[in-house]
Amino acid sequence: MKKLLALAVAGTMAVSLAACGSSASSAPASSEATSEAATSAAESAAESVTEATQGGKVGVCIYKFDDAFMTTYRNALQEILEGKGYEVTIVDGNNDQAKQNEQINTFVTQGVDALIINPVMTSAADQIISTVKDADVPTVLINREPTADQMSAYDKLVYVGCDAAQSGTFQGELILDTENKGDINGDGKVSYIMIQGDPENIDAQLRTEYSVKALTDAGVEVEQLDLQRGDWDRNKGQEICQNDLAKFGDQIEVVFCNNDDMAIGALQAIQAAGRTVNKDIYLVGVDALDAAKNEVANGNMTGTVLNDANGQATQAVECMEELLGGKTYAAGEQSVYVDYVKVTPDNVKDFQ
Ligand code: BGC
Repeated sequence: MKKLLALAVAGTMAVSLAACGSSASSAPASSEATSEAATSAAESAAESVTEATQGGKVGVCIYKFDDAFMTTYRNALQEILEGKGYEVTIVDGNNDQAKQNEQINTFVTQGVDALIINPVMTSAADQIISTVKDADVPTVLINREPTADQMSAYDKLVYVGCDAAQSGTFQGELILDTENKGDINGDGKVSYIMIQGDPENIDAQLRTEYSVKALTDAGVEVEQLDLQRGDWDRNKGQEICQNDLAKFGDQIEVVFCNNDDMAIGALQAIQAAGRTVNKDIYLVGVDALDAAKNEVANGNMTGTVLNDANGQATQAVECMEELLGGKTYAAGEQSVYVDYVKVTPDNVKDFQ
């Protein structure tokens, strides 16, 4: 219980104003409002953890178990839900939307009280929403954000996630904070490669866009040497980076990865090519996986961005409980965001 309480409180530290338990909104909060909301969210999370005994059956659909970040998230969800006395079943969609649709149907037939769904494809949101609406099952969507318009079809539905643009901006800022603002060879421009997640995913789209936008907004000239999809996967990150290093060599000054797992793969390629991060190349990811935090601490990654799995899991469960308590969501107010946080060699210890 002590561990769970710590998890809940730590997890709500970076919760935006839109937190369940306060009022939902579709925009990230100001930092002042954020800290106030975080305090009250942390307090109410602590209360609900100690007092919670609501029980009931919860079905959780994860897009695929074999995803490093979603594994952390899934474990946090399981711990929080079970700690609150829910009967939890978590299923693996194996990255197959048809399979996940069947799993949702099965949960509905079994009469679950609530669903938490990490869609395989955001493009399938309409179908998912129509299924849970027809069955009248309160549902929290996580990690892959549908449009506000899609969500407006059902008022017992809420999305819990993060503002992906923010993580991209933070990645760009990590590069701007280096001594040469990413221009290692001093030729007046930052030459980079972009290793993208699944491009169907809004996180991949916005991180790709906003990481570079942070540089151009700061007046830094950029040159994209390559952009390739690595599908959030470590091996693909390694392969793409290896090929690009062979092709572009010292021209590459920055490796942007849409997530840490691909960054860890890229790091293997960087080291195999005899390059040294923070000396002759920069490398950034998103998520703050344990492996990435270690590499940031060791100086082998320039930085990462915390994608707060515990905070999001805590929020998802709070929102689920509010839905179970009869709350409905108005159109346009169905996204609840947890803040990202920059992780650098200076503050990484706070996250370890
Ligand atoms: C995470 C990735 C993960 C993806 C799954 C993203 O928010 O940063 O690591 O693979 O979600 O949808």
